[in-house]
Amino acid sequence: MSDRGVYSLFDISGKVAVITGGSGALGGAIARGLGQAGARVAIMGRRRDACEQRVAELVALGVEAFAAPCDALDREALTRAAADIEARLGPVDILVNAAGGNDPRATSSPAQPFFDLDPAAIEAVFAQNMMSVTLPCQIFGQGMAKRGSGAILNITSMSAMRPLTQVGVYGAAKASVANFTQWLATHMAQEYSPEIRVNALAPGFFLTDQNRYLLYNTATERWTNRGRTIVAHTPMGRLGKPDDLVGAALWLVSPAAAFVTGVVVPVDGGFSAYSGV
Ligand SMILES: NC(=O)c1ccc[n+]([C@@H]2O[C@H](COP(=O)([O-])OP(=O)(O)OC[C@H]3O[C@@H](n4cnc5c(N)ncnc54)[C@H](O)[C@@H]3O)[C@@H](O)[C@H]2O)c1
Repeated sequence: MSDRGVYSLFDISGKVAVITGGSGALGGAIARGLGQAGARVAIMGRRRDACEQRVAELVALGVEAFAAPCDALDREALTRAAADIEARLGPVDILVNAAGGNDPRATSSPAQPFFDLDPAAIEAVFAQNMMSVTLPCQIFGQGMAKRGSGAILNITSMSAMRPLTQVGVYGAAKASVANFTQWLATHMAQEYSPEIRVNALAPGFFLTDQNRYLLYNTATERWTNRGRTIVAHTPMGRLGKPDDLVGAALWLVSPAAAFVTGVVVPVDGGFSAYSGV
């Protein structure tokens, strides 16, 4: 251990981190946290303007950051983006897969019964969550396998562990991410190097653009029944703030978690621990 003692366990200075969905709410908070812990950060998202805006925010905080706009579902575009990132920042040590989300077209409701959900919308949600994790793991995991080290952090969801009404398709897609995290952790450690670790966070409920329509009624400016029920079932009595994810993310990608692989860590204010009774 260095002069900084136990704090050096969390030191990721100079490491290169790619954050897919780094332009979004949760990926953005994780990007900021890893950058402030010393990582050099590549922001990957579909929209160039959103990636560049996030990079500008990071640079203003003194973080070395690079915009790598790319659709995480496009393997060729990922390959090109990976080459750009490596040329600009160097080999990728850390991959955070935060791209993903739900699609209202695959959410059931009285007006849109499960039986009528469009198969294309169901497939899109699986792609948006499962493929958007799998493809970056292929592209960036290969470099980690060659070098024999690296850390991958996937973002699944509480809905993967505790199925939620209405969002069954999204929950199933996120459950596949949790399962894949365990599989890839084993595969990387056994086939390539025990120093390549793969873990996941399962965020509870964070009010963001993608779930606002379910939790908050903008017309009445009140929580929906669902929003109120969630808070009532969260022992800490509140929704999460994106920064609530930063500590757990830093732990899992840093040497502090050197013997931790294949875990899915809830960051949920206790939601998963509470039976409601
Ligand atoms: N918000 C929540 O309460 C919550 C809870 C649990 C899990 N999650 C998960 O956390 C992750 C981040 O969610 P968020 O709330 O920050 O959402 P967000 O919509 O703010 O951010 C998601 C980002 O991912 C990008 N993205 C989506 N698909 C992409 C693709 N194919 N290629 C490249 N970029 C892509 C989007 O452009 C966006 O910038 C998602 O995987 C989401 O499912 C969110």
